[in-house]
Amino acid sequence: MADQALAQSFLNVGEDYERFRPGFPEAAADAIVPVHAEAALDLGAGTGKFTELLVPRSSRVIAVEPSEQMLTVLRGKLPGVEAHIGTAESIPASDASVDLVVVAQAFHWFDREPACAEIRRVLVPGGTLGLVWNHSDPSCAWDRACTRVAHPQLENGLTASPESTERLKGFKSPRFLQFPWTERIRRADYVARWLTVSSFLAASDDQRSRMLDDLNRILDTDPDTAGRDAFDLPQITDVYVYRSLA
Ligand SMILES: C[S@@+](CC[C@H](N)C(=O)[O-])C[C@H]1O[C@@H](n2cnc3c(N)ncnc32)[C@H](O)[C@@H]1O
Repeated sequence: MADQALAQSFLNVGEDYERFRPGFPEAAADAIVPVHAEAALDLGAGTGKFTELLVPRSSRVIAVEPSEQMLTVLRGKLPGVEAHIGTAESIPASDASVDLVVVAQAFHWFDREPACAEIRRVLVPGGTLGLVWNHSDPSCAWDRACTRVAHPQLENGLTASPESTERLKGFKSPRFLQFPWTERIRRADYVARWLTVSSFLAASDDQRSRMLDDLNRILDTDPDTAGRDAFDLPQITDVYVYRSLA
């Protein structure tokens, strides 16, 4: 079960999340929605960074998210999306009402068994579940070092390993795809991005300031970032595409 203090750290973040967090490559959405869908649901939608890729790919788009602040940003940005307060463990949608459910950067926060049962309930039989995570590129030493400041417990900087998402009750084995991409990012925005990550949000002021010092030390000393105002940040988007068992 996910750490609830960390999972709920997103309740009071909205504008900064939208401004500083990365989006997702179009190819990741194409992998999950290869043909136009009737109804798609983005679960743990946040400010709608993945939802916006569903809009041109589905006739009806529903966003479900527990944070009112996140949802306020999403509603302002995507007025055509049906946006509801709710959780993965109790999805505000009727049985067999959507062709696909997408979870971007959020599945690790869910209580897995009840969430999977709820996802199966709202999906049509044989419907699609897409799980998506952006993570560090192993080739980028400074970003991996910064990731370890935020998540010292994660050996490889991944929030979910392929093994941990391999089998989900009620779903066939997934298709796994990876999409590498590069983002040009200002140093100030890169640091501000870390402040929207759960471990920074949940830290005390003292802890957060020590973590910020650690980040700045890494950026001041790594040869790829020292003395630069902007960097090329390589990232990898992992996508798992599941089909629910009929
Ligand atoms: C890292 S953010 C990802 C937001 C968005 N999907 C994106 O990719 O930008 C994680 C989101 O999961 C939401 N969340 C946490 N626990 C949840 C739960 N049990 N059910 C649904 N969403 C949850 C948080 O409120 C937060 O918006």
